[in-house]
Parts: sequence; C-alpha cells; structure tokens
Amino acid sequence: MQEVPAAKSAAAPPIDDDVEDAMHSLFAPQYSLATFRFGEEKSLQIKTSLSSSTDYDMTGAIVWPASELLCWFILKHPDFFRGRRIIELGSGASALPGLVVSGLASIVCLTDGMPELIEKTVENIDINKATFAPGTSVSAHVLRWGDDDSLAATLHEEFHGQPVDVILGADIVVWENVLPQLFHTIGRIFAHHRAAAGGSNPPVGAEGEAAWAHVPCAVLTYQRRFLSGERTMAQLAETEHFRVLRLDALGFLGPEEKERFAASEHGVDYALMVLMPQ
Ligand SMILES: C[S@@+](CC[C@H](N)C(=O)[O-])C[C@H]1O[C@@H](n2cnc3c(N)ncnc32)[C@H](O)[C@@H]1O
Repeated sequence: MQEVPAAKSAAAPPIDDDVEDAMHSLFAPQYSLATFRFGEEKSLQIKTSLSSSTDYDMTGAIVWPASELLCWFILKHPDFFRGRRIIELGSGASALPGLVVSGLASIVCLTDGMPELIEKTVENIDINKATFAPGTSVSAHVLRWGDDDSLAATLHEEFHGQPVDVILGADIVVWENVLPQLFHTIGRIFAHHRAAAGGSNPPVGAEGEAAWAHVPCAVLTYQRRFLSGERTMAQLAETEHFRVLRLDALGFLGPEEKERFAASEHGVDYALMVLMPQ
C-alpha cells in the first residue's frame, strides 16, 4: 500500500506566533494617491486610505472632513498664518492642514502618536514640497500627547528654542480618555512660548485682527460627537488656564464650500475652537 504523507494542513504557523502580523494585515490601511482641491488656490496630492480602523487605532489613515475644514480656515486667513511657526497634533498620515499651511508658514512640524502614520506623512511631505513657501522647514515626528520628553525633543530639534505660534488639530478631540493628555501637551507648548518670550505671554496679534487671531493659540476643528466631551474640554480648559473662543465653524466659508460641508453628512455638527493662554 502506498504510504500517504501526513497532511500538511496548509502549513500555517501556530496562530499565537503570528498574532501581531495577522492583526496588522487585518487592519492595515490601503493607501492610494488622492487629490484634495481647495478652490482655484490650492491642490495637494495625498497618500491616504479610504478606510480606517478604530480597533487598531488607525483613525489617522484617512482624511477626516474636519481636516478639510481646517484647511479652508487657514486659506481664508492667510495673513495670520504667514511666517508663523506651527505644530500640528494628531495630524494622521495626510496632515492636510499642516501641508496647506506649509505654503504660508516658516516652520511646520507634523506630529502623530502612531509611527506607522508618520511614515506616510513623510511621503506626503515629499510629494507636496513644491507647494511649500520658499525656505519653509517641514518635518514629521512621532509625538504622543502627555509625553513631555518627546515634546521637548521635538521643539528643540525643529524649532531650535523658538516658540511655536500656532497649534493645529483636526478631529483630535475624539476620545474623552486622552483629552487630559492632549490639553496638557497644548499647555506645555504655550508654556514654552511664555519661556521663550521671557516669562510673559501677552497674546500677539496684528492690529484689526479678529479676537481669535493671536499667538500663541491652538485652532481645533472637529465633529461634535459627545456632549460629555464638550464638558470635559471646558473643565480642562479651566484647569490649564486656557481662554476658549468658539467660532462659527462654517461662518468663514463661501456658499459653495458651506454646501459641501452641510451636504457631506446629514446631521454632522462641526465645531471650531480656539484656545489661548490666559
Ligand atoms: C480622527 S484622527 C484625525 C486625523 C487627522 N487630523 C484628520 O483629521 O484627518 C485622530 C488622530 O489622532 C491621533 N492620536 C490619537 N491619540 C493620540 C495620542 N494620545 N497622541 C498622539 N496622537 C494621537 C491618531 O493617531 C489619529 O491620527
């Protein structure tokens, strides 16, 4: 009788040896190049994913609508952003607002807590460098909120002791449990500005500018999802001694752009919040 070799049962390695890889491939975003246009003025090519996973913390693989809203805010207020030193927190892979502001600012540092996303951000910087203002330094760093050492290293490396003028954040107030770390990091960046300014921190704004247009400040756009998150943010702003300005999130848009956000998702309520040290 012919001997039958033992079945090789698809030669799969023991599952527990390969869990990390298997989970990664299951949740790995599929990136492709997409064009983001902002009227006639601006067009960027961005490597982005069409889907993301919240389970594997890859929400930053896609471009969230709040990110496009923040881009419009920047493009509608170019004089405020021109020549500024800027850090984007939770930029995700696309870092769309940070790349848009790179056409105006002097230093732009794009940051996220997920190293996998920052690898893509580096590629997006490279693809779009022809759109940056001449001489603008644009970099990408892994930065987890609440990690003071990484923040100090990033500020030292990219800003060379100079203060950060503007913090950008699109849809980064999604998780209530990390809001304390996020607000702490914003507070540290404001404190760094105060230290660089010799201990005082009077907001600097051009004459005739709107009430929000001062440095340092944090400009955050987001989709309003949880009322409890709004309450937590109000409490944290008080603890960190931030002044909070809430602006009309769509008020600066033209009718066509407004339509795009109003029509994009029914019932989505966008928010635009500016934080400043008191
Ligand atoms: C909803 S996504 C928004 C991404 C991008 N700003 C946008 O609007 O398209 C939130 C981003 O925050 C990042 N993030 C979440 N928790 C973080 C933390 N503790 N430290 C740093 N980044 C964090 C995520 O990795 C993700 O990229």
